[in-house]
Amino acid sequence: MLVLKHLHATFALLSLIGFVLRGIWLLRSSPLFQAKLTKILPHINDTLLLGSAIALVVSYQWNPLHHPWLLAKITALLIYIGLGLIAFRFAQARSSQLISWLAALCTLCYIFGVAITKSPTLHLM
Ligand code: HEM
Repeated sequence: MLVLKHLHATFALLSLIGFVLRGIWLLRSSPLFQAKLTKILPHINDTLLLGSAIALVVSYQWNPLHHPWLLAKITALLIYIGLGLIAFRFAQARSSQLISWLAALCTLCYIFGVAITKSPTLHLM
């Protein structure tokens, strides 16, 4: 279980690094943004991140409806995916790409905060 948790945390960190890099490449119009690996690797990592999350929840037998921090993570993950799609696929203007990318990054930071504190309010309330 500990190995699975470490794997999940590693995929999460890789997802953060990849998201930051892709945003920088997009905003600087770098050809790296269009590279084949840049398009494929995030999908593989995100599948592993989600797969390890599901494996953790199943092996702990935790029901997200009974653990508000898990529900907060799932909700924030959906928002993160949506903002990522806007930033990297749908937004045309630089300003919209920047704003949606920054908003996605804030959401990702919130997910890390929830993962570490196990609290949807990050123990701030
Ligand atoms: C972008 C998405 C996600 C990120 C960045 C993320 C990040 C993390 C991190 C960093 C940890 C380790 C926390 C620690 O060391 O205590 C963790 C643990 C965990 N995550 Fe995620 N996670 C994500 C998505 C999810 C999802 C969608 C679920 C389930 C629905 C989930 C379920 C869990 C569980 C069950 C643990 C183990 C908690 C424990 O053993 O104490 N994660 N997550």
